[in-house]
Amino acid sequence: MQGFYKLPMAQRRDILRKATSLTEDEIRILANTGALPADVADHMIENVIGGYSYPLGIATNFRINGRDYLVPMALEEPSVVAAASNAAKMARVKGGFEVTNTGPVMIGQIQVVNVPKPDDAKAKLIERKGDLLKKANDQDPMLVSLGGGAKDLNVKVLSTLKGPMVVAELIVNTGDAMGANAVNTMAEAVAPMVEEITGGRVLLRIISNLADRRLVRATALFDKEAVGGEDVVDGVVYAYAFADADPYRCATHNKGIMNGVVAVGIACGQDIRALEAGAHSYASRSGKYKPLTTWEKNSDGDLAGTLEMPMAVGLVGGAAKTHPTARADIKILGVKTAIELAEVMGAVGLAQNFAALRALASEGIQRGHMKLHARNVATSAGATGALVDLVATRMIEEKKIRFDRAKELVAELSKGKKPA
Ligand code: MEV
Repeated sequence: MQGFYKLPMAQRRDILRKATSLTEDEIRILANTGALPADVADHMIENVIGGYSYPLGIATNFRINGRDYLVPMALEEPSVVAAASNAAKMARVKGGFEVTNTGPVMIGQIQVVNVPKPDDAKAKLIERKGDLLKKANDQDPMLVSLGGGAKDLNVKVLSTLKGPMVVAELIVNTGDAMGANAVNTMAEAVAPMVEEITGGRVLLRIISNLADRRLVRATALFDKEAVGGEDVVDGVVYAYAFADADPYRCATHNKGIMNGVVAVGIACGQDIRALEAGAHSYASRSGKYKPLTTWEKNSDGDLAGTLEMPMAVGLVGGAAKTHPTARADIKILGVKTAIELAEVMGAVGLAQNFAALRALASEGIQRGHMKLHARNVATSAGATGALVDLVATRMIEEKKIRFDRAKELVAELSKGKKPA
């Protein structure tokens, strides 16, 4: 497939069609870029042949820092939007979510190897901090004019598999950008100066996704009556204790948080790989993998939840600007700054975790899931319109949520015949 990248999209699809067993219909499905104009898609990544759509839902009831938000969520998993909305409704009883942040600060790392005297090099780099920060800031006068830019330099000597290594870290306020471009450009720009100062050789120059200077902290108090009584409160606290003690449970606990964070991230055009990397590395920062939330019962018997995690998101640059759906979603949210978006996402993460733990500690998640799952099975078996619910309800009653049964029911119910 040499030169594939140079071809127009339609020709790439022709080649794909010949190379695979795709039908004309399937090729048409792939070609559909939805709200994203085809030429925009073609310039976003390489070798583009079409688009991919997710359902977009709106989580309701969110009150965050005294303001109401409608929260767009794009994902494929049933129950997540309903769970977030439900949790936000319960949180409203005691005023909703309070969220703070540590500012939009990212770290750019410059790795230096073959340094003759690593400790001396560290001291020299710190001495020349002013020059290094100036060089970094010369790369982005716009960011600097808005109050952002490289603010500090941190230097460490690492003992590694390949011997000692000096790592210089630019501490950059990235303003309303997620910041990867700005930080990487700065890290590359200062590299020659770092080599000259240290006498070593610079290798990697790249942002760190362990964004532990770009945290959000969300809290919410859930009224014991509103959540279903003190047993539920105790159940959530037990669930949290389980996650705190066991990495196998903790991975799933944190996954539930990311269900919400990532869904808002996708809807708003964010780099969700960066969000995942930041979340899980932050969860492991003590050397043990820990929950990103904490839950406790207060003296009134109500449930107090907190979430603390990195949230590297931006409103300028990237898909947040180029994807029309992301732009519309950001408008739905009404957020004006990257930190406001980060705070909303922190609140959604906390809500999502509460909803999951509450369900798990009481009736379990399968009942709610099964209803939506049954609808999905009915749809994939060809049901449309009112038939979707008819088929789903029958399968639930029969406790047979299976594709083959859905097919039978679709055939029989759509003919108006009584199913066997
Ligand atoms: C499912 O996507 C998420 C949960 O497994 C989260 C959890 O177990 O806490 C329900």
